[in-house]
Amino acid sequence: MKQVFIVGASRGIGFEFVRQYRAAGDQVTATARSDEGLAHIVALGARALRLDVARAADASSLAESISGAAFDVVIFNAGVYGARTRGLEAPTDEEFDAVMHTNVLGPMRVLPQLVLALAPGAKLAVISSRMGSMGLRTSPDGWLYRASKAALNSVLKDTSLALAGKAVCVALHPGWVRTDMGGAGADIDVATSVADMRRTLARLTAADNGAFLNHDGAALVW
Ligand SMILES: NC(=O)c1ccc[n+]([C@@H]2O[C@H](COP(=O)([O-])OP(=O)(O)OC[C@H]3O[C@@H](n4cnc5c(N)ncnc54)[C@H](OP(=O)(O)O)[C@@H]3O)[C@@H](O)[C@H]2O)c1
Repeated sequence: MKQVFIVGASRGIGFEFVRQYRAAGDQVTATARSDEGLAHIVALGARALRLDVARAADASSLAESISGAAFDVVIFNAGVYGARTRGLEAPTDEEFDAVMHTNVLGPMRVLPQLVLALAPGAKLAVISSRMGSMGLRTSPDGWLYRASKAALNSVLKDTSLALAGKAVCVALHPGWVRTDMGGAGADIDVATSVADMRRTLARLTAADNGAFLNHDGAALVW
């Protein structure tokens, strides 16, 4: 039985991670920022913690809430897309802050709180996106979201350097997934995406530390 920690699990991909790890008999702690989200997590038999990753006060009390834990798997999943732009449409301060505070500042605050709660050799993943890849980019659609995931990839790389020898840290692209964010026309269902990512996480070795991987484990260029 593994100890698993999932950040941002009220719905979508994060919720499916809770469902599948619980179904496999693992002990799961997961976070949400609303009463409804917390209730969804508890209904799956997981421990629920309230955490809005964009609120400094929430993140700063996290280490205390999980003290004594030894997580084998940690997944930072919380994320927002922001404005559905097509070209070079300037974001407002509010739009910029909402996306960057959730997708970049959030993990920069939350991940340091988890360091003492990792089991030796833990697997740590951030849910990134191939939209953040420079090398794979063919469209400027959603440029603020793209910038945030490119920055998240940088955060993951530094995390992998800081935790080398203690944990295996990767950025995962979940695929284009049918969730509230991905929409009904997306390529794959959430159960398939999460099953693939769980398999990929289970297969990671120390040599994968600092990698950017597709849900099926294939390497992606940054
Ligand atoms: N779906 C796709 O095709 C796709 C593709 C590539 C990458 N991704 C990434 O996969 C991750 C999950 O996406 P999804 O498709 O499951 O999206 P979703 O259905 O919109 O769910 C987003 C999740 O993030 C949580 N969240 C947002 N802001 C938060 C905050 N400030 N604090 C805590 N939790 C917060 C949401 O909680 P609330 O319910 O409280 O809002 C929800 O649980 C995201 O990082 C996304 O960028 C998704």
